[in-house]
Amino acid sequence: MRAVDDLIAEGVSGRRVLVRTDLNVPLDKETGAITDDGRIRASLPTLQALRDAGARVIVAAHLGRPKGAPDPKFSLAPVAARLGELLGTTVPLAADVAGDDARAKAGALADGDVLLLENVRFEAAETSKDDAERGELAERLAALAELYVDDAFGAVHRKHASVYDVAARLPHAAGRLVARELDVLTRLTTDPDRPYVVVLGGSKVSDKLAVIEALLPKVDRLLVGGGMCFTFLAAQGHGVGGSLLEADQVDTCRRLLAEAGDRIVLPVDIVAATAFSAEAETRVVPVEEIPDGLMGLDVGPRTVEVFGSALGNARTVFWNGPMGVFELAPFQAGTRGVASAVAAVDGLSVVGGGDSAAAVRQLGLDEEAYGHISTGGGASLEYLEGRELPGLAVLADRSGT
Ligand code: 3PG
Repeated sequence: MRAVDDLIAEGVSGRRVLVRTDLNVPLDKETGAITDDGRIRASLPTLQALRDAGARVIVAAHLGRPKGAPDPKFSLAPVAARLGELLGTTVPLAADVAGDDARAKAGALADGDVLLLENVRFEAAETSKDDAERGELAERLAALAELYVDDAFGAVHRKHASVYDVAARLPHAAGRLVARELDVLTRLTTDPDRPYVVVLGGSKVSDKLAVIEALLPKVDRLLVGGGMCFTFLAAQGHGVGGSLLEADQVDTCRRLLAEAGDRIVLPVDIVAATAFSAEAETRVVPVEEIPDGLMGLDVGPRTVEVFGSALGNARTVFWNGPMGVFELAPFQAGTRGVASAVAAVDGLSVVGGGDSAAAVRQLGLDEEAYGHISTGGGASLEYLEGRELPGLAVLADRSGT
């Protein structure tokens, strides 16, 4: 796989380079302000290196999941402003993805300038399952530039026009962020130092079953918290009250417990509440006694201790998914406690993207205490599952470019 630094060494001055980045940042629902700019900051090394080398940089990115048409709620305007602040320059935003305005603005770039295209998902073709539809958009994107760099690690598992099809149409390379993410994931999958402990949380067990199946034979311990733990607790025969439960997954969880129960560590107590609200009445209850009228919204203090000691002697840790509804103050302690235990690990600690990365920052924890905070939740999980990621496969293919 060619690296952006190889392109730079060959000379990019005066050349238009299309860079796909993952700028899919969370926005405040009321004000629309960016609540966590981690992904924008993670995109800077590649963009700055290209600017320093005199490239004319055209950035393509998505935000949220608009329905294949322009929607002001999902405009990249706030991202263009923040990117400009961080780069110390003005980053204009094209009014379209690869239409007249994008062409005009890309044509007007000077060496070292940066242009952001509007949300690529404003074009229905971006996410289409139809190769020809995606291909048509990819042609228009490719026509904006001479070279393509993929630095959108968080989107490499998507077979989308701006991730996959355009790479096949231009000489291409991986950006610095993609290279760093791959380096760390390779360390997790190739002979990790032991004990190797994985911590999984988040709401839906169905989203994580494939990765659990793939990881169980490889890990020494798998700690399960978050909303997904209740389906496992139900599989152990516990009542879970009004907690999140995926009834159709109980049998699978029961099988996993039967096959590898000695390696799966589940919560022993739960913070249960009368409602999904910061104002709700809460109670810490053992997992055997979750009352019918309450819902579990965080793991309890004894669980934090149990998980902490399971992490105590770990030499390699991968953590994906919060332990509870950390956005609401009464349900933060579980995620905070586990995040601190992961940070204290003497070895490689990797935070697997999305909500867990946001939790580290929103809870004011020290980012430097972790070996690596991934920008890709879904992408890192699919990588660990051993699946082929379309965005990486196409970068590795050098034929035709
Ligand atoms: C993410 O947020 O994980 C990436 O930006 C990919 O977004 P998506 O799940 O909407 O494709």
